[in-house]
Amino acid sequence: MEEMKKEVLFGRDLIAKRVEELAAQISRDYRGREPVVVGVMKGAFIFMADLIRRLDIPCVVDFVRLRSYGSSSVSSGRIELTKDVETDVAGRDVLIVEDIVDTGLTLTYLVEVMRARKPASLKVCAFIDKRLRREVPFEADYVGFTMDDGFVIGYGLDFNEQGRFLPDVFIVRDL
Ligand code: IMP
Repeated sequence: MEEMKKEVLFGRDLIAKRVEELAAQISRDYRGREPVVVGVMKGAFIFMADLIRRLDIPCVVDFVRLRSYGSSSVSSGRIELTKDVETDVAGRDVLIVEDIVDTGLTLTYLVEVMRARKPASLKVCAFIDKRLRREVPFEADYVGFTMDDGFVIGYGLDFNEQGRFLPDVFIVRDL
C-alpha cells in the first residue's frame, strides 16, 4: 500500500482533552437520566468508545449504519439505513454520535428517522464539524472540533478503509 501524504491535525492529547470536556458537558446535561447513545458506524466507533467511558452518568449503547449512494467522497444525497438500532427509542433520551458533519445530508436523514420514533429528546454529538461544506442546514448540539475543508483520517475515520486505526487525526494531502 502506498504511503499517503498526511499531517497531524488533531493529536491524541488534544483529542483526549476535548473528549473529556464534551463528556463533562453531556454528563451535566443528562444528569439523572440514562440516554441511548447511538453510534454511527463505522467512523464514530473510537470517538464513541472514548466518550462514553468519560461520562459519569449511565447510558445504553446502540449502533446504526448508513449508506449513501454514489462515490465515497461525494455525497449524492440518497441515504439508506443498512443497520438499525435494536433499542426501542420511544420515550428515551437519544444521543446520536457521529464522526463528521460534512454536507449535513446523513444526519438530516438519521435525525428524521429517529424523530419519527418519538424519543423523549434527540441530540447529536459530532466529533468534527466541517461547517463550510453544508448542503443542507444542520447544527450538531455538541461538536468536538471544527475544520473548514480538507479530508481527514485516523481516530476511526478512513479513506477507502485506510487509516481508521491511527490514534491521531491526520489531514490527507494530494488525494
Ligand atoms: P454528510 O454530512 O452526509 O456529507 O456525510 C458525512 C459523512 O461523510 C461522515 O459520516 C463521514 O463518514 C464522511 N466524511 C466526510 N468527510 C470526511 C473526512 O474528511 N474523512 C472521513 N470521512 C469523511
